[in-house]
Amino acid sequence: MTRLSELSRSIAGKVALVTGAASGMGRATAHLFADEGAKVAVTDLEDGAVQNVVDEIHGAGGAARGWRLDVTDAERITTVIAEIERELGGLDILVNNAGVALGGPVMDDAYEDTWQRSMDVMLTAQMRLIRAALPLLERSGEGRIVNIASTEGIGGSPFSSAYTAAKHGVVGLTRALACELGSTGVTVNCICPGPIHTAMTSVISDEAKTKFARRRVPLRRYGNPEEVAHMTLSLALPAASYVNGVTIPVDGGMTIKNN
Ligand code: NAI
Repeated sequence: MTRLSELSRSIAGKVALVTGAASGMGRATAHLFADEGAKVAVTDLEDGAVQNVVDEIHGAGGAARGWRLDVTDAERITTVIAEIERELGGLDILVNNAGVALGGPVMDDAYEDTWQRSMDVMLTAQMRLIRAALPLLERSGEGRIVNIASTEGIGGSPFSSAYTAAKHGVVGLTRALACELGSTGVTVNCICPGPIHTAMTSVISDEAKTKFARRRVPLRRYGNPEEVAHMTLSLALPAASYVNGVTIPVDGGMTIKNN
């Protein structure tokens, strides 16, 4: 008897671009995608940091190529996407992951800068990457966009209003483009990580992390980058073809916990 199931749970041979891939969740995603057989375009701010991840992936038997890409540089985005097309043969998966955690009271003197930088790195950049990548993603036939937001894209915290506004923007961008791009077959989805052990949260003491996790997270711990990367992979699969416009928390249950 022929198999009923037809959809593929493999990204082998696909080309995936990950922003902010030198550290934390981006690095974990780049590794996981390469482990699954994808050709990964590893991008981040510094050549050296990018090359380290490319070397790690090659060392593990995967396929990767690195590009220096500051996601706030519109011209560079266009150049890198064109080079990815030329050197890797196209683009199937875009993971908009780069981010910075800037906080402070709304009345801070530096607030306007914090606001602008947060929007530039985490919201405007995602829009630009999507616009630059879309023709290639459409051509793929199984184009996938995964935007990394945050549980700050669902709720809010004091002294993080610029970050929170940018992440809510990511959720809105995801939803509207999921509607708009539906006819192209490119899916647009969004992940909201909760507290994850990365460089971004390394400034928080272990004691404060433990206290927070015990109080707020049903799983009573911070998550690891790979646990987020696996959800990103799930949304990037060819078999995820009917998942569109969703906002998925990967937060150990934090956002559904009342007390
Ligand atoms: P991380 O600090 O380990 O990695 C972030 C990466 O983004 C770094 O490699 C950094 O160089 C890169 N980056 C920063 N500005 C950039 C720019 N202008 N152009 C290109 N790359 C740039 O942090 P993490 O935690 O892995 O963050 C990944 C994403 O996850 C971010 O969007 C962050 O906001 C989000 N997130 C993180 C959470 C956490 O608890 N760690 C929770 C929720 C969301």
